[in-house]
Amino acid sequence: MNGLYRAVIRGVGSYLPETRLTNVEIEQMVETSDEWIRTRTGIAERRIAGPDEATSDFAYFAAKAALDDAGLSPEDVDLIIVATETPDYLLPPVACQVQARLGCRNIGAFDLHATCAGFLSALQVAEQFVKSGVHEHVLIVGADTLSRFTDYTDRGTCILFADGAGAFVVSRGEEQSGEGVIATTIHADGTYFHNLYIPGGGSRTPYGEGAKAKIVMDGRKIFKLAVNVMASTVEELLEKTGRKKDEIDWLIPHQANQRIIDAVAESLDFPPEKVVSTIQNIGNNSSATIPIAVDTAIRDGRIRRGDLLMLVAFGGGLVWGGAMVAY
Ligand code: UT7
Repeated sequence: MNGLYRAVIRGVGSYLPETRLTNVEIEQMVETSDEWIRTRTGIAERRIAGPDEATSDFAYFAAKAALDDAGLSPEDVDLIIVATETPDYLLPPVACQVQARLGCRNIGAFDLHATCAGFLSALQVAEQFVKSGVHEHVLIVGADTLSRFTDYTDRGTCILFADGAGAFVVSRGEEQSGEGVIATTIHADGTYFHNLYIPGGGSRTPYGEGAKAKIVMDGRKIFKLAVNVMASTVEELLEKTGRKKDEIDWLIPHQANQRIIDAVAESLDFPPEKVVSTIQNIGNNSSATIPIAVDTAIRDGRIRRGDLLMLVAFGGGLVWGGAMVAY
């Protein structure tokens, strides 16, 4: 659907906590090996929160970096959306903490929970507000602190999860410019919810009443679903836009496991050198992985203005989605 305007990515930023959790340290916690983790996941170390850090800290720093990159000040922001599944508190939203800490006007600020596809869901929401002319600058952040919900006695999950944040400033551009968000799509299939979830800490089983507030995952099942839905999302966006696979400059998938990233590229017959991967030294920090990967590839000179990006994600829910963006 064409709107009045185009939603363009005016600024990008990210933030990673300084604490590193290496495979060698994980070897001390569970029965595993550095070699196994590297070959089965592509991860060597992950960035995790220090004792005094939480999601709103990462979100704030990433948001500030994105605003600086956009050349905008906090007063310019019209709406803040934070995609997260690990807020500092169940109440209030992280977005309100970010609004106050940045010193924005009393604009709208809310969290969006769509697990690892949260950032792309936020991008789709921001796109609608900007295209329709309701807002000029929407700040979207993907921020998570999975380490606080990771069971470090479970070798099937503790090898993957990490913390951090990334952000975009989505701003009004001209419809004819050809820049910005070209198409977005999101999907869900809640029948798979129990394959990746946190049993305790919610309204069904409040914290301290039996069920653990730690991630439980059927890794093998999620792996297969992830490859299928991310590949089909790329195909869907190509079909929707009439663009060809070889027009895509960079494929930026959710950083869940290097083998998932490779399998998606392989099933699409997409050149591996055009796939952005940052998982090796960061790990999987859920809704933060895509904006961090985009920011990393911009800073190291791979992604340039005008490049055609294909962003694609999946996560617990099951949720999945994608976006085609001319950066
Ligand atoms: O955004 C988050 C969404 N989550 C994901 O994307 C996770 C998707 N899944 C995965 O990344 C992978 O399934 C894992 C990395 C979690 C597991 O890798 P896998 O290649 O699928 O292993 P598996 O579960 O099929 O297990 C293979 C073997 C098993 O042993 P047996 O039964 O063959 O004797 C496991 O017990 O590997 C064993 N194993 C391990 N061995 C050493 C499982 N985890 C480990 C480990 N170290 N950490």
